[in-house]
Amino acid sequence: MSSFKDLRIVDNFYQTSSFFPMPTICISTINPDGSLNIGSYSLCFPYYVAGKDRYAMILECRNTSNTCRNLLRTHKCALNFITDEKKYFKEAVRLGFPGPSEEKMKEPLLFKMEDGQADPSDKDRPQVVADAYQVFECTWASQLEDAEKFKVEDIDDGHPGPYNDFNGITSKYGAHFILYIDKILMKEKYYNSIVNGVNKNNFPPVPVDYGYRDSTNFWYTRFPKLTKPVSEPIPAPKEVDLASIRYAADRCDPEIKFTDAALKNFVKVPRLFLKTVLNGCIAWAKENGVTLIDDEHVKIINDKRNAEKKKR
Ligand SMILES: Cc1cc2nc3c(=O)[nH]c(=O)nc-3n(C[C@H](O)[C@H](O)[C@H](O)COP(=O)(O)O)c2cc1C
Repeated sequence: MSSFKDLRIVDNFYQTSSFFPMPTICISTINPDGSLNIGSYSLCFPYYVAGKDRYAMILECRNTSNTCRNLLRTHKCALNFITDEKKYFKEAVRLGFPGPSEEKMKEPLLFKMEDGQADPSDKDRPQVVADAYQVFECTWASQLEDAEKFKVEDIDDGHPGPYNDFNGITSKYGAHFILYIDKILMKEKYYNSIVNGVNKNNFPPVPVDYGYRDSTNFWYTRFPKLTKPVSEPIPAPKEVDLASIRYAADRCDPEIKFTDAALKNFVKVPRLFLKTVLNGCIAWAKENGVTLIDDEHVKIINDKRNAEKKKR
């Protein structure tokens, strides 16, 4: 007997059929007359996180929105992550009311704006929200799924189709944008948290949006002031015995071998990643004319990897 009720899945299931925690992002773009538009968005998540030549986010939005039209034209936007103050969320809800850009943007804007850093001389690059705790400056990956074919002029009461599956116009009223991240701008305080190490006192006050519910309100939670973020350590890595590492190492390459001292460095590497790590060492050895990898070589490889990581 299940302990759950089976709930009907309906349109906008993330806010109508479930409780789904989301970010609160004010997206700035440039209107056709060169003025600024800001729209509020929560369906915006990391998309390419590793293993591709670029990092990317995915944005899901109404294709009749100002943001969608501007992205189709200019390909540029800034994702401004706001902090949890009530006044900022109230402003996000105001900027989230559907309608022409000039109507909402003629009202005094609560946010202070400033130039971004990706390329402020580009007239299609919007300013960023100076009050945000972080900003992603982005460029739409319009070449994916040949999404350049979609034109703003074809959007009226939605788009007549045909539609793409994951990038560009994806349904009568829907659009998805894969957004390459050109720059991550971070307020100094939180930059220091990331660079020097986070602790329970140095997280930004991030709101959690639960979307539009009860046909009246957007619901969100503020960053907890009394209960601080809690860290849960991952299990201590289990040491693998040397014999099983030797077994894997001897089967990686016919020419390149490892000493026991070298392999001892890998006793804490999770099994899943062992082959990748060994192959990384073998690639280095081939580049450097080494046929027997020793402890010293592993240290050089690790130093090189750490330096590359730091540079990134
Ligand atoms: C907190 C919040 C989050 C929102 N998230 C989304 C979203 O992820 N996708 C979407 O299409 N609309 C979302 N909306 C509604 C849009 O803000 C609304 O369509 C607005 O008109 C968009 O502005 P724009 O036309 O200037 O782009 C959200 C509204 C609020 C207040």
